[in-house]
Amino acid sequence: MDVARAPLKKLDLIYCQNVLIYFARDRRKQLLSALADLLKPGGMLVLGAGEVIGFTHPSLTRIGNRQTLAFRRSG
Ligand SMILES: C[S@@+](CC[C@H](N)C(=O)[O-])C[C@H]1O[C@@H](n2cnc3c(N)ncnc32)[C@H](O)[C@@H]1O
Repeated sequence: MDVARAPLKKLDLIYCQNVLIYFARDRRKQLLSALADLLKPGGMLVLGAGEVIGFTHPSLTRIGNRQTLAFRRSG
């Protein structure tokens, strides 16, 4: 649950699917922000479609189509 303390280097690609459902809405957004911070510039975060609604992050741009919930990190 403490993603910021996970011993991970910066990542090109993060899949996080069928996990967010276990967390409260506010906690989901905290987790996603922490995952976004783990991405390299240009890296992608792929979530399960419909797993989070209304998530935005200043460094993430949504990509793909309506059936896909994925983001690319800009910087
Ligand atoms: C339904 S499985 C999904 C597994 C995989 N992501 C997939 O889509 O096939 C849910 C996963 O969430 C993990 N999980 C549940 N609560 C968690 C928590 N508090 N911290 C980390 N992982 C958790 C479980 O260990 C399990 O692997």
